[in-house]
Amino acid sequence: MSEYGYTISIDGKFVSEPDAKVSVLDHGFLFGDSIYEVVRTVDGKLFAADRHLARLHGSAEKLNMQLQRDDQWLLQHWRDMHAKRGGVESYLRIIITRGVGPLSLDFTDCEKQTVIGIAKPLNKWPDHDYAHGCKIVLAQVRRNPKQSTDPAVKSGNYLNNVLALQEARAQGATEAVMMNVQGHVTEATTSNVFMIKDGVVKTPALKEGLLEGVTRGFILQVCQKLEIPCEEAVFTGDELLGADEVFITGTTRDVMPVGFIGDHKIKLTPGSLTIKIANAYHEMLHDPNNHQ
Ligand SMILES: Cc1ncc(COP(=O)(O)O)c(C=O)c1O
Repeated sequence: MSEYGYTISIDGKFVSEPDAKVSVLDHGFLFGDSIYEVVRTVDGKLFAADRHLARLHGSAEKLNMQLQRDDQWLLQHWRDMHAKRGGVESYLRIIITRGVGPLSLDFTDCEKQTVIGIAKPLNKWPDHDYAHGCKIVLAQVRRNPKQSTDPAVKSGNYLNNVLALQEARAQGATEAVMMNVQGHVTEATTSNVFMIKDGVVKTPALKEGLLEGVTRGFILQVCQKLEIPCEEAVFTGDELLGADEVFITGTTRDVMPVGFIGDHKIKLTPGSLTIKIANAYHEMLHDPNNHQ
């Protein structure tokens, strides 16, 4: 156990935090040349691990990384991490780096990928944020365009997000929404964004440059099931401010209503549609068909 209480593995072997070390020549450390996924447990089982695996493959392909561990190994390791931690519900991160190689951007000589596991108790966000809506801000820092490192890749390059979150924290907010260079809303630093106006749910289209959140995918399904009009759309920060309801989604947050964007109060917090969607998502969380 480390001072943070995390359970850590390197290349599948559980190690204590003081022994959890990777080489300074690991390209994950040198260049952020790595990918990762976070799976959570629900009722002690992996939730939607199949979708996280699919996204991991997508990230790997976009970085020309041939994964050296197969899906069965990764699934089992997520399970082992949860079992080893021994708590009720876990946050289970697997990071795969390009591996150790010469001090060069060229990764041809990186032979063995480094696989790191970090497990901790599932985050508990403040009840107040669910009951009354959280505060978010519109960040100054922009989301990088798809033509750069595609934000659809869940990579070890999170510096824009790091800077945007600093902006949020400076204003006492929990999240920061980033626009793309066209000024359209993309996503928040570790969550996707939804707005509701006149009964229509909207979330930024993938072409705007954002991570295809697993929770986002479930919410689109929920809306279809509940026959709530829902669009993957293009909208600006001003349109977001004018929404009737706003919520953010993510693996650890589920559906979190937004009460304030900066000093601007969102009309309904939480609104009835947000509550309906959150309740339906909650049912999906506990549906054994979504557990692995
Ligand atoms: C940049 C970014 N966007 C969105 C999300 C939400 O994705 P998911 O619902 O798969 O957790 C995350 C998750 O950490 C993220 O890092």
